[in-house]
Amino acid sequence: MNELIPKPVKILKVKDQTPIEKLFTLGVKLGQKPGQFIEMSIAGVGEAPVSICSSPTRGNVEVCVRRVGRVTNALHRLGAGARVGVRGPYGNGFPLEKMRGSEVVLVAGGIGMAPVRAVLQYLLDKKKEYGEIKLLYGIRDYSMMLFKDEILKLMNSKACTVYLSYEKEDEVCKRLRKEYPERVCQGVVTKLFEMVKLNPEAHAVVCGPPVMFWFVFKEMRNRGFPIERLYMTLERRMKCGIGKCKHCVVGVGSMMKYVCKDGPVFSGVEALTMRGMKYVR
Ligand SMILES: Cc1cc2nc3c(=O)[nH]c(=O)nc-3n(C[C@H](O)[C@H](O)[C@H](O)COP(=O)(O)OP(=O)(O)OC[C@H]3O[C@@H](n4cnc5c(N)ncnc54)[C@H](O)[C@@H]3O)c2cc1C
Ligand code: FES
Repeated sequence: MNELIPKPVKILKVKDQTPIEKLFTLGVKLGQKPGQFIEMSIAGVGEAPVSICSSPTRGNVEVCVRRVGRVTNALHRLGAGARVGVRGPYGNGFPLEKMRGSEVVLVAGGIGMAPVRAVLQYLLDKKKEYGEIKLLYGIRDYSMMLFKDEILKLMNSKACTVYLSYEKEDEVCKRLRKEYPERVCQGVVTKLFEMVKLNPEAHAVVCGPPVMFWFVFKEMRNRGFPIERLYMTLERRMKCGIGKCKHCVVGVGSMMKYVCKDGPVFSGVEALTMRGMKYVR
C-alpha cells in the first residue's frame, strides 16, 4: 500500500470559530495521540498538514483550520457532505504517559489552541490519571477566541482552571475580567504567569506562534520551571509528512531531526539545543 495516497473522508460538520478559522468534523476515527497531525488534501488544489484538535476519547477527528493560502481557502469553501483526502495520523504527539500523575499546564496562543484542545480533552476524559489541569490562553479579542462555548463553560467549571489574557478589550472580555479578576487580564499571554502558581513538578505544553513560545519559555524558566518538563510543537513546511522528502529537517549532524516524524512535539531541551529553532535562544 502506498502511504502517500490519501483516503477519501467525508466532512460531517463545519462550524465557524473566528472570521478566519473553521472547525471541521471528519467522518473518520484515527486513534491518534494528542499532538499528532494529518495531511489533508483537496483534489486539484494540494495538501497541507493540520493538527488534529480532538482527543481520540471523543471519537471522530476534528481539525481547526485557519484560512491562509491555496489549500486552506479551498477547504473553507467546502461544506458538510464534501470529501477531502486524509493521510495519517503522523508525528510523535505529546508524551502524555510521562505526564501521568502530575499537574499539567497548557499554554496556548492563536491557532496553537487547536493541538492544545486535543490534549485538554484527553486530560479531562482521563481526569483520574492526572493532577490539576491549568489552561493559560491568550487571544487578541473575543472574536478571535477558538472553541468559545467550550472555553466559557470551562471557566465556570472545577474540571480545569482557565486563565485568559486578551490584547484588545471588548464587551465580553471586560465582563470576563470583572467576573474572574484573579484569572483574566489584559495583555499578552505571559502576563498570566503573574496570576498562576507554577509547580516545578508539573509538565507544560506550549503551542502558539514562534514568538510566543520564546517569551513563554523565558518566563517559565525565569520562574524556576524545569525546561525538560516543557513540550512545544514546531511548525515547518512539509511535503511527505513521513520522513522521506527532507523538507522539514531541523538541526544538523547527530542533532538532525525530521519535524514530521521526530516531532512536531519537542521538549524545551531539544528546542534549546537544536539548530534551526533559533527563536528559543
Ligand atoms: C505539524 C503542523 C500542524 C499544523 N496544524 C495546523 C492547524 O491545526 N491549523 C491550521 O490552520 N494550520 C496548521 N498548520 C499550518 C498549515 O499547514 C499551513 O498554514 C499550510 O501551509 C496551509 O496551506 P495553504 O495551501 O492554505 O497555504 P500556502 O498557500 O502554502 O501558504 C500560505 C502562506 O503561509 C506561508 N506558510 C505556509 N506554510 C508555512 C509554514 N509552515 N511556516 C511558515 N509559513 C508558512 C506561506 O509562505 C504563505 O505566505 C500546521 C502546520 C504543521 C507543519
Ligand atoms: S515532510 Fe517530508 S521528511 Fe518531513
